[in-house]
Amino acid sequence: MHDFKPIGVFDSGYGGLTVLKAIQQVLPEYDYLYLGDNARTPYGTRSFETVYKYTLEAVEWFFKQGCELVVLACNTASAKALRTIQQKDLPRIAPYKRVLGVIRPTAEVIGHYSHSKSIGVLATTGTVESESYLLEIGHFFPDLQVTQEACPMWVPLIENGEHLSGGADYFVQQHVHRLLQKNEAIDTILLGCTHYPLLAPKIEAVAGEDIKLVSQGEIVAKSLQNYLERHPEIAGLCTKNGHIQFKTTDSAADFDIKGAIFFGKSIQSEQINLVDN
Ligand code: DGL
Repeated sequence: MHDFKPIGVFDSGYGGLTVLKAIQQVLPEYDYLYLGDNARTPYGTRSFETVYKYTLEAVEWFFKQGCELVVLACNTASAKALRTIQQKDLPRIAPYKRVLGVIRPTAEVIGHYSHSKSIGVLATTGTVESESYLLEIGHFFPDLQVTQEACPMWVPLIENGEHLSGGADYFVQQHVHRLLQKNEAIDTILLGCTHYPLLAPKIEAVAGEDIKLVSQGEIVAKSLQNYLERHPEIAGLCTKNGHIQFKTTDSAADFDIKGAIFFGKSIQSEQINLVDN
């Protein structure tokens, strides 16, 4: 049995698999441990306290599995829990371990995609209400006009495998139209939820070909690569045998079927109990 000190990748459900897929392409040598909290998804409509509690439980679980570094591949968890975990919990529970999110790396580059200097952000209600994107993008691109639209039905549609259905068309049109009505100058739409790449063909069809869609997988993967280069003390603690383990808090059989759609490859997962492990 190899020593297994993987990089942890977390999401409320399947969406983080779109990020893990991109990370694995850029950094295939590392080991990864993915956890989807499918039993408690979606996070996007839950309170700050609940998302923080669930995310902290997941982070503590990753640390018990031997992870030195955890990526919250979930915008909602990054928006509502990351800062408190980094500032309040890490110094207390694991001062040398690191937890990273997906909002900061996205905010660092998103301004480069837009010519009109107007971007739209489609995200969960939690991410939109946290105003994390407005704040973070404002640091890096103060002249960029950022318009948000919350899409509360999209994650449930995707988690239930309805993203290709005619029913999904209605909700995609509703939110894309609303976003573009708020600001007609938008030329770039950020998919600010790691589930949304599965709806990309429908979003593209509604938004039209003049609008660029930006998904986060590649952005987060490159940012992680850069982070590991700058932090050899963390990179050196992570094992590199190219192995991935998938865990879910709900049915492993369901995760294997639906997760494969997000990951683009077959998956064999195991169900875990997050709190008692
Ligand atoms: N994938 C998560 C995100 O990026 C949200 C999913 C949820 O609502 O649970 O925000």
